[in-house]
Amino acid sequence: MATEPLRFLITAGPTREPIDPIRYLSNRSSGKMAYAIAEAALAAKHEVMIVSGPVSLPAPEGARVSKVVTSDQMYEAVHEQLPRCDVLVMCAAVADYKPVKASPFKIKKGAAALILELVPTRDILASLADKERKYLVIGFAAETNELEENATKKLREKNCDMIVANDVSRNDRGMESDENEVIIFFRNGQSTKIPRTSKKNIARELVKIISTHAKNV
Ligand code: CTP
Repeated sequence: MATEPLRFLITAGPTREPIDPIRYLSNRSSGKMAYAIAEAALAAKHEVMIVSGPVSLPAPEGARVSKVVTSDQMYEAVHEQLPRCDVLVMCAAVADYKPVKASPFKIKKGAAALILELVPTRDILASLADKERKYLVIGFAAETNELEENATKKLREKNCDMIVANDVSRNDRGMESDENEVIIFFRNGQSTKIPRTSKKNIARELVKIISTHAKNV
């Protein structure tokens, strides 16, 4: 039986938070997991919009891509696209902190220690928590320890419908790797593990699970 096409909004990659015109704070996210989810969703005949931080991946054929750099730009782009989506997949590794103010000039080196003052960025997922939603929200949790406890806390606090948790303490899976292993936690306390496999296989499984859940929203 063919499933109804859904409109996927997928965030991808890292964000960059400028320090000065040539320097920024960022993280190791490659965007591979998000782009694989986009490809799997397209292959299952869904519509895909990617809000992508800086990555070195080609846009999947058939996807629309909105390119952003900073967490603030990602926040605005997601909110702009939300009214036209059925599923939000918050796969991006959004920076948690940004310099309080980017210097308009290159910061010159000196002998003294340089102290950067950082402020929290806006949390995109948390900004949707109280709103009445017509779309499914899938969060991601990158953890180095106490995976289940940390991921289920994020699921509750960020009011996600499901959260995809992965262990980022290992080099053979997760960030930058072509492989991953994830546990998906659901609101009702259930969980499903997808054992270590390619990000493409994980993406296919995730799209299946998401499509089943979206039908019940
Ligand atoms: N996220 C977000 N906006 C932010 C930071 C994170 O929407 N400013 C989203 C991520 O896209 C992900 C989820 O929140 O879907 C969890 O991100 P993660 O980095 O694992 O957790 P944090 O909430 O940032 O908490 P911590 O870094 O303390 O683990």
